[in-house]
Amino acid sequence: MIVLGIETSCDETGIGLYCSERGLLADGLYSQVDTHARYGGVIPELASRDHVRKTLPLIREVLAEAGLALDDLDGIAYTAGPGLVGALLVGASIGRALADGLGIPALGVHHMEGHLLAPLLEGGGLVFPFLALLVSGGHSQLVRADGIGRYQMLGESLDDAAGEAFDKVAKMLGLPYPGGPHLAKLAESGDPARFDFPRPMTNRPGLDFSFSGLKTHARTVIAKQRESEGGLNGQTRADIARAFEEAMVDTLAIKCRRAIRQTGLESLVIAGGVSANQRLRQVLGEQLGADAVHYAAPRYCTDNGAMIAYAGCRRLLAGERSGLEIEVRPRWPLDSLAAV
Ligand code: KG4
Ligand code: ZN
Repeated sequence: MIVLGIETSCDETGIGLYCSERGLLADGLYSQVDTHARYGGVIPELASRDHVRKTLPLIREVLAEAGLALDDLDGIAYTAGPGLVGALLVGASIGRALADGLGIPALGVHHMEGHLLAPLLEGGGLVFPFLALLVSGGHSQLVRADGIGRYQMLGESLDDAAGEAFDKVAKMLGLPYPGGPHLAKLAESGDPARFDFPRPMTNRPGLDFSFSGLKTHARTVIAKQRESEGGLNGQTRADIARAFEEAMVDTLAIKCRRAIRQTGLESLVIAGGVSANQRLRQVLGEQLGADAVHYAAPRYCTDNGAMIAYAGCRRLLAGERSGLEIEVRPRWPLDSLAAV
């Protein structure tokens, strides 16, 4: 079965082609970062309009790259939520219309399930059950995954998502949007011993996260240094970035170890944009063993169409289909999905 995946939940137009026999055939991404960068964040209406412009041309490009035509498709998967309602509606409308025109089934896919399954995209010997740490711009969740659609929420962020905290602290340091990768780059030259940032909620039991205190701590340290140095010198910016990244990574790692102890699960999947973070991968690999930690290639950690094609393919193969109406769910709990 060959499935076309369409991702338009936020600020990237992602298209993927996944074949159940041959694996990933091709994928393409158009990032709107330049459109939103001047505003310091995503402007929903601009995102929708850009998806309208880019989705069909990108579908044509990806089909051409795979040497396929629309007639070769057996199913279409589009992100139906969670995400920005207007942006979601673009992908859902195009996906639904194409499927109806071609007389093939279509399915609305959960964006975070796409992320969660992304490490399976390229094989790699990962099998259920596993623990998943989902860390993106909108979500920070610890999930027990027993199969496709069999997800139990073990913990989540009570306030900011991990990626959101990365982006906000990066902005305070004067880095461009989206700040996570820029902050990580700056942190490489930072001294981890100069500033000590808190590890929020690690002293109490439970698997929930809270990152707003960490963000406030960063703001306080930045203001103090700015005053004493009369600005922020380059090394201080790097040292603050490093201290923040260490605190974030350490906090996530403490909760992952705790969840592994509690559940007895042996494999950990890290997924979502923040799972592209090299320091997070390194620390978890050192603490849990490299074989226990699974993640996708960096381009499939952040938003992409390949993960939607893959998740959609698994579900379409199991006989799942969405109805004829165009329906999106800006809010959609991951643990409410149907098992297949
Ligand atoms: O999954 P994603 O592409 O979009 C959402 O579904 O939200 O995640 C984007 C988030 C952004 O907050 C971005 O700054 C963060 O992932 N991110 C990173 C890195 N790469 C992306 N954060 C830290 N280190 C990175 N290398
Ligand atoms: Zn995402």
